[in-house]
Amino acid sequence: MYRLAPSLLSANFARLGEEVEYVIAAGADWIHFDVMDNHYVPNLTIGPLVCEAIRPLTKAPIDVHLMVKPVDRLIGDFIAAGADIISFHPEASEHIDRSLALIRDGGAQAGLVFNPATPLHHLDHVMDRLDLVLLMSVNPGFGGQAFIPATLAKLAAVRARLDAHEKESGREILLEVDGGVKADNIAAIARAGADTFVAGSAVFGAGNAGDPHRYDTIIARLRAELAAADA
Ligand code: DX5
Ligand code: ZN
Repeated sequence: MYRLAPSLLSANFARLGEEVEYVIAAGADWIHFDVMDNHYVPNLTIGPLVCEAIRPLTKAPIDVHLMVKPVDRLIGDFIAAGADIISFHPEASEHIDRSLALIRDGGAQAGLVFNPATPLHHLDHVMDRLDLVLLMSVNPGFGGQAFIPATLAKLAAVRARLDAHEKESGREILLEVDGGVKADNIAAIARAGADTFVAGSAVFGAGNAGDPHRYDTIIARLRAELAAADA
C-alpha cells in the first residue's frame, strides 16, 4: 500500500483550489502542505488560513510539514484549520516529546522530519508517540531540488527500526520521503523502504495549464513505477 502526496509548493497559487481538486481527481492520496517561516528555512509560504481554505475541497488527508521555529503555537492553529497529519523538525522544537503530544492531543497524527544530515537518534525515546517518520531527501526550503542519494541508505535504516517496532507493538508507523521524487527514481525509493511519497515539481510541473486532467498521466505513471517496484 503506497501513498502519493503531491506538494502544493509547486502548484499555481493563483488557482490553488482548482489544483487541489484536479490532483485529487487524478488519484493523489494526500495533500502535502509545506509551511515555511523565513527563519527555520530561508523561504516563506503558507499558513493555517490557507489550510482552512482548502479543507472543504477534499476529504483527502492534509499532510502539514512544518518548517518553522518555534513549533508549538502553530500546532493548535493547524488542528483548528483541519490538518490530519502534522510533522515538525526535531531541531526546531525545544521539547520534542511535548510537541508530539500536542499534535496527538489535538486529534491529529504526529510525525518527525529528518533533514539529510539530521541523525536518527531523535527517534530513540518517542517511537510510541509517532504515526509518521518523514525523511528529507533534499535540504528543506525549496521545490525542484535533486534527490540526495544517501537518503536510500537512511531509508533502509529507518525501515528496519519501524519494522522492529511494528513487530513489538503491532502498530504501523508510516515512512514518508520528501524532495526530488520523480517517476525515474520512485521505484528505487520504494525498494529502499518508503511507503509514502511527496512529489512537488514532478506532479505540478506536468501537463498543460487549462487541462483539468493534466495530472492524470503523471499520477498514473508514478503508480505504475510503484507497482513495478513490488514485482
Ligand atoms: C521542500 C519541501 C518539499 C518540496 C518538494 O522543503 O518540503 O515538500 O515541495 O518539492 P520537489 O518534489 O519538487 O522536490
Ligand atoms: Zn515538504
